[in-house]
Amino acid sequence: MSNVLVTGGAGFIGSHMCLALLESCHDVIVIDNLSNSCLEPLKRVEKLAQKSLIFIECDIRNDQKLRQIFKDHSIDAVIHFAGLKAVGESQRFPLSYFEHNIAGSISLFKAMEQANVFNIVFSSSATVYGENNRSPYHENMPANTPYNNYAFTKLMTEQMLEKLALADQRWSIALLRYFNPIGAHQSGQIGEDPRGKPYNLIPHLTQVAIGKREKLSIYGNDYNTPDGTCVRDYIHVVDLAAAHLHALDNRLKTNGCRTWNIGTGQGHSVLEIKETFEKVNRLDIPFEYAPRRVGDLPAYFADNERAMRELKWQPQFQLEDMLKDSWNWQRQNPMGFK
Ligand SMILES: NC(=O)c1ccc[n+]([C@@H]2O[C@H](COP(=O)([O-])OP(=O)(O)OC[C@H]3O[C@@H](n4cnc5c(N)ncnc54)[C@H](O)[C@@H]3O)[C@@H](O)[C@H]2O)c1
Repeated sequence: MSNVLVTGGAGFIGSHMCLALLESCHDVIVIDNLSNSCLEPLKRVEKLAQKSLIFIECDIRNDQKLRQIFKDHSIDAVIHFAGLKAVGESQRFPLSYFEHNIAGSISLFKAMEQANVFNIVFSSSATVYGENNRSPYHENMPANTPYNNYAFTKLMTEQMLEKLALADQRWSIALLRYFNPIGAHQSGQIGEDPRGKPYNLIPHLTQVAIGKREKLSIYGNDYNTPDGTCVRDYIHVVDLAAAHLHALDNRLKTNGCRTWNIGTGQGHSVLEIKETFEKVNRLDIPFEYAPRRVGDLPAYFADNERAMRELKWQPQFQLEDMLKDSWNWQRQNPMGFK
């Protein structure tokens, strides 16, 4: 059992992480600026776990407040989710992405170092592999051509952490490269609730299903993929949270920096997702083809062998489960957390 600080813990993945931590008997301190979330998911997490956590509203760019938090609380490890995550937005507002994702991470690492906290699990992304690698992506492939500004911020943060581990052996760092997290906790109490028009496929799909949006836009049907739509590796958010617990355990025993892909290793096209969603949930989803989006790669999926072998982690959920759970969450919460 340890005290874990979760940055961005009120968000989609962070809230599932907090629940998994509480259920595994860890104590949790969440810091979040609530720019893309609210307090309700954390209240529900406490109810589900029947255990409370500490919430502190804080922006990770606020050095002074961060330092105070590390002084006030005895923290063993950090799981770092806080940041901005929309690829298209990162192309329009690069500075904002550099500020939150890179400068914010530097503030966090400085506060950690000052407080002698050296264990961290970082939310990286499969987008760091860029356009020059072929799937399945393996951790040993060169990640040096980020395809968009969001991927650039993830790559920069990974590289900073690698250099910290080289410079000071007290650091113990897990870089988790997520593929596409979807689904929701089986209770239907927490799930993905983006502000404004969803950027990711699944909330877009479920918001069409609930009648909040008219039709699903499928961005591009002329990619070099079997049906022309983009192919991604979808991973259940509960499996993803479990991977963090395994990584945390691994890192609390070993120093240095290590990278793991967290995906199922299976690629599915957007069209296939829509059709499977319709089948398992007995729904019809109106859709249209829209132009390709800037920054989207045609297809990628993970080689997840390293994570399974070294972390002793294995994804438990199939695509059908993920799509049922996503709908279960949206159906029970038509307006999200409002
Ligand atoms: N969801 C995905 O598809 C995906 C894929 C790969 C990697 N990731 C990474 O995983 C992490 C979590 O993603 P998510 O889907 O849960 O996103 P999310 O937006 O739901 O959660 C991020 C949380 O961070 C908070 N936040 C943002 N900027 C902050 C700042 N400067 N200070 C403090 N809090 C801040 C937001 O309010 C939000 O609660 C992100 O770092 C994201 O880049 C997500």
